[in-house]
Amino acid sequence: MDLAEYAASTVIRRGRAAFSAPRYSVWKAPGLSPVPPHTTLPSNFIRIVHAAAAAALGMEDLILITGGAGFIGSNFILQWMAEEKFRVLNLDKLTYAGNLHNLQSVESHPRYRFQQGDIGDRDLVRTLLERERPRAIVHFAAESHVDRSIHGPDDFIRTNVNGTFSLLEEARAYWSDLPEKDRQAFRFVHVSTDEVYGSLGPNDPAFCETTSYAPNSPYSASKAASDHLVRAYHHTYKLPVLTTNCSNNYGPYQFPEKLIPLMILNASQGKPLPVYGDGQNVRDWLYVADHCRAIRTVLAAGRTGETYCIGGIKEMPNLEIVETLCQLLDELRPDDSVVPHKNLVTFVKDRPGHDRRYAMDTRKIARELNWHPVETFETGIRKTVRWYLEHENWVQGVTSGSYRQWMAKQYATEL
Ligand code: NAD
Ligand code: DAU
Repeated sequence: MDLAEYAASTVIRRGRAAFSAPRYSVWKAPGLSPVPPHTTLPSNFIRIVHAAAAAALGMEDLILITGGAGFIGSNFILQWMAEEKFRVLNLDKLTYAGNLHNLQSVESHPRYRFQQGDIGDRDLVRTLLERERPRAIVHFAAESHVDRSIHGPDDFIRTNVNGTFSLLEEARAYWSDLPEKDRQAFRFVHVSTDEVYGSLGPNDPAFCETTSYAPNSPYSASKAASDHLVRAYHHTYKLPVLTTNCSNNYGPYQFPEKLIPLMILNASQGKPLPVYGDGQNVRDWLYVADHCRAIRTVLAAGRTGETYCIGGIKEMPNLEIVETLCQLLDELRPDDSVVPHKNLVTFVKDRPGHDRRYAMDTRKIARELNWHPVETFETGIRKTVRWYLEHENWVQGVTSGSYRQWMAKQYATEL
């Protein structure tokens, strides 16, 4: 019996206990000969044991989420726990953007577990994959704010490019060792952005799955690089990947460095509303729960190797968004210090390299997977404003310390 057969038979007989057992105890299982004293075990011993275990036991009813403590990831987990059956393991580094308070309502749920860690920590990712044996990975973890990528691109390359590469490598190793039926069923969903396609002119057709990549910011370039790696892992290794490219999301739990929560919080506190440039840059807005449903649909029914464009089919110039928020606040907070709130609008220096317009053609996901947004902008934005006004504790928790430093750095010379 060679080492792999020995490990597999041990695991089969002893079940999961052996799988998570301390390094050599598998060799001391009752009924098996212990390792003779002074035996030198091969350096890849644990890897062989784990690979044999994976092959012997197959996948668990569990999905691994990366970046699940961020804005979209936490909305995804909350929706998943309410509407799906499989267990969730959330791997998140807890950067400034990660917030476990978002997940308080599920933190002691028997089907949910959190693991703090970096997607670039290959030993950790390997251990998690081999121990937990997920049937899918849904990859949200990223540095996600364009303005931060302009101030300091390093973290964007580290996490979005190198981190995704590490995750892909470990996913490939894990997937390669699975039994054939599980290899077929496994999925790696890569959550990406419309920004990889660059910028549209006013009359250009919307981005679609065949639009050429033309990223313009360090953020979008790092996401584009990760998309290319994901694509290559399918083409070269046949890893069953799917990529989603989505437009701007809004909704609960979004870190208030992004346009909509920033404007709601500043306006409700009587602070200036910093609109970049002429305020006529256009974004396509989607309520976050609809994005989460789209990702679940792609995970369940998408064709591997494909990409899917997702959007709200709701293009709006930034100034119109800000004015809409101000009108809602006039209605909901008529006693604020500055009313009408739009008196707080302040035009500031434009974002360097600011993309002018994004728009998404969502016909493929509608046609193939029958996904359509449920929320209208009018209903979604009202819910969102109310949510921020009603969650003062959450707001206080995320707007202390490093948030203040960021605001000072980004807007100090302008406001
Ligand atoms: P976010 O910044 O709110 O959250 C990112 C999460 O990833 C945080 O919890 C953070 O702690 C975690 N993280 C960062 N680096 C990590 C690392 N090295 N290892 C493990 N965890 C790490 O981002 P978001 O807005 O929720 O976006 C999630 C994903 O969706 C990103 O990949 C982003 O590119 C993509 N996306 C976002 C939008 C949007 O409008 N926000 C639209 C389309 C696509
Ligand atoms: O399009 C999808 C992308 O949407 C995601 O991939 C990114 O992760 C996400 O951050 C978002 O990127 P944007 O740069 O479009 O989002 P942001 O909220 O930063 O800005 C939206 C628009 O509002 C943009 O045109 C810049 C403008 N803006 C933003 C801020 C923060 C302002 O005018 N003033 C501001 O203070």
